[in-house]
Amino acid sequence: MSADQYSVLGKAPDPEELKKLSSDDVHLTIKGLSAGYGKMVILHDFELIVGKAQSLCLIGPNGAGKSTILHSIYGFTNITSGAIKMHGNDITSLSPNEKLKNAGIAYILQDASIFPNMTVEENMIMGGFLMDKSSHARDQAEKVFKKYPSLNKRRNQKAGVLSGGERRLLEISRALIMNPEILLVDEPSIGLEPRFITMVFEILEDLQQNEGKTIILVEQNAKKGLEFADIGYVLVSGQLAIAGSGDELLKNPEVGRLFLGG
Ligand SMILES: Nc1ncnc2c1ncn2[C@@H]1O[C@H](COP(=O)(O)OP(=O)(O)OP(=O)(O)O)[C@@H](O)[C@H]1O
Ligand SMILES: [Mg+2]
Repeated sequence: MSADQYSVLGKAPDPEELKKLSSDDVHLTIKGLSAGYGKMVILHDFELIVGKAQSLCLIGPNGAGKSTILHSIYGFTNITSGAIKMHGNDITSLSPNEKLKNAGIAYILQDASIFPNMTVEENMIMGGFLMDKSSHARDQAEKVFKKYPSLNKRRNQKAGVLSGGERRLLEISRALIMNPEILLVDEPSIGLEPRFITMVFEILEDLQQNEGKTIILVEQNAKKGLEFADIGYVLVSGQLAIAGSGDELLKNPEVGRLFLGG
């Protein structure tokens, strides 16, 4: 698809509209963000607002800059203007390690990030590599294993033997070791068969509803992502094109035609 096909989506929603989609307990805001890699600017004047324990799903064509938004929140991009705030505190220029250790933001990678020759338990403990004491990482790992008995059963096996769905569960649960407040999740359903896709969204829903995590995800499976999320943003060519509740976007005819195969 060419970018022209998305021109029907119109101009960016204004910040007031975005505010209405967030709960009053604002957790993370992005204002006027321009960011990219080296000299290449990918995101242009991007805005985002999400409340505590809400979920926000980014959809859009390949190359639109969805992953770049998560990269920018986590500190992997070159930010040329704008500000990212968490509970009103500016975190724009924190490094990824500071984001994870001090700000409580965890990033779950799009690409498989499991070490196949290490055991499930060793992989899990890697999630605590920034902790001052390795015993803390072990204690946290025990909590996470308690929460996910299916992983606990496999803890002494090499991670390489896990199924795709189990591996995704390990990737998500490993991010919980640092007890983050915000989870950045890139393409959780990618490469999974349908029953595992359902499982992954159930896990995310539990983390949001029962543990109060704020979740910002990118999802190629727009239907699944929008069914799950409280808020949906459509990104085209590095700019916000549409924003609404997940339900609103599912009913939006242009979103249906372009992203839901309708
Ligand atoms: N590390 C990088 N260095 C240089 N350019 C990059 C890097 N990562 C992404 N880009 C470029 O930034 C643009 C946006 O990429 P991004 O990965 O954010 O898109 P996306 O919306 O996540 O796409 P997809 O749906 O394919 O994952 C693309 O043109 C891509 O080539
Ligand atoms: Mg991407």
